[in-house]
Amino acid sequence: MKVTLTGIKADVGSIGGHICPSEELLAAVERTVVEQGRGLIIDHRLNYIGDDVSILMTHDRGIDDESVHRLAWDAFLAGTQVAKDQGLYGAGQDMLKDAFSGNTRGLGPAVAEMEFEERPNEPFLMFTADKTEPGAYNLPLFLAFSDPMYNAGLILSPVGGKGYRFTVMDVDHSGGDRVVELVTPEDIYDLAALLRDNGRFVVESIHSRHDGDIAVSSCTTRLRNIAGKYVGKDDPIMLVRTQRNFPATGEILAPFEICHYVSGFMRGSHVGPMMPVKAKSSVSFFDGPPVVSCLAFSVRDGKMTGPVDAFDHPYWDWVREKAAQKAHGIREQGFSGPAMLGIHDLEYVGISHRLDALDGRFVVRSEAP
Ligand code: F6R
Ligand code: MG
Ligand code: MG
Repeated sequence: MKVTLTGIKADVGSIGGHICPSEELLAAVERTVVEQGRGLIIDHRLNYIGDDVSILMTHDRGIDDESVHRLAWDAFLAGTQVAKDQGLYGAGQDMLKDAFSGNTRGLGPAVAEMEFEERPNEPFLMFTADKTEPGAYNLPLFLAFSDPMYNAGLILSPVGGKGYRFTVMDVDHSGGDRVVELVTPEDIYDLAALLRDNGRFVVESIHSRHDGDIAVSSCTTRLRNIAGKYVGKDDPIMLVRTQRNFPATGEILAPFEICHYVSGFMRGSHVGPMMPVKAKSSVSFFDGPPVVSCLAFSVRDGKMTGPVDAFDHPYWDWVREKAAQKAHGIREQGFSGPAMLGIHDLEYVGISHRLDALDGRFVVRSEAP
C-alpha cells in the first residue's frame, strides 16, 4: 500500500528548565492523538528527547494533510495547557502562531514527512535531536549517502552505486522555499560546499537515482524566520528509509559516531558535540550537550513494529564518553572564539546591546605627525 509517515515534534514545556517534558504533559498529548486520531491515522508512537515531544503517525492521506497536521497541533496545544497548569518552563515555546492555519509547517513545530509505496520489507529510522538545528544532520547524511568509507553499499551494491539526488534548502531565504537539487557522485564537491554551512543550507530530502524512491525527509524549520526573532533552537526531526536501494541501517548510524560539533549548546548560543543518546534522554551539562536519538521501525500496511532504540548498544556508550570529552573541551574555553556562535546566530541580544553601547567609546587614532 501507499503509506505516509508524518513525524512532528515540538517543545511545549519542560521540567526544571529545558530538561524534559512531564509525564502528565505526555499523557495529554497521547490522549489527544488517540481520541482525535480515530479513523484518521493508522498507527502512532509518542516519544521525547530533551524538552521536545515527537509524534510519529502513519496514515494514507499523503503529506501536508490538513487533518493530520491539525491533530498534531491540537495534541501539542493540550500538552501546552498541562505545561501551563504545572508551571513548566517554556510552556508552548514552539507554538509560535495563535491559531492553526491548515499546516503545521511555518507555525513552529518541526515536520518530517514522506509518502511511498511500501516495500515487502520496510525498515525506517526516526531521528530527533535537541539543543541543535536542522543542519546538524547535514554531515551524517553527506557521509552515509555519498562516502564509500561510511557506505560500502555505494561500491558493493549496483543500485546504491547509482548514487542519490539531494534536495538542499537555503533556510535563510524567506518568502518561498529556495531549493537546489544536486546529484552524487557528480556534484559531490558542490554538495560539500553547501552542506558545510549548517546554519544556512539544510538537506530537505534525498531520493535514490536508481528508481527515484524517497530515502530521507528532514525538517527545515527555522523558528527565527517564523517569529522574526530567536525563540529557541530549531531542534530537528528526520525520517530515513534503509536497506535495499538505500544505505543499510548501520551505515546511516555510523557517521553519528563522529559527534561532530553543531550549534545549539547552552542558551542556544554555543557550539557542542552531538551526542547519540538513548530515547527519552534528558539534557544536563550546560543544558546539553546537543543530543540525538534514533528509533528504528518496520512498517507493513501502515502498522508499525517497534521502535527499537538504535543508540541503546554498548558501542554507543564508548561514543558517549567521547562526546562528553569533546563537550568538556569546548566548554572549557567559555565564550572564546568558536565556542560561542557568531553574533547573528546568538539566541540573546545582550552582546549586540553591549557592542552598540561601546560604539561611541571607540576612537580612531589620528595618524602620527
Ligand atoms: C532548545 C532550547 C534552547 C533554549 C535556550 C534559551 O530546546 O531549549 O535552545 O531556547 O537555551 O533558553 P532560555 O532563554 O529560555 O533559557
Ligand atoms: Mg527548549
Ligand atoms: Mg528542545
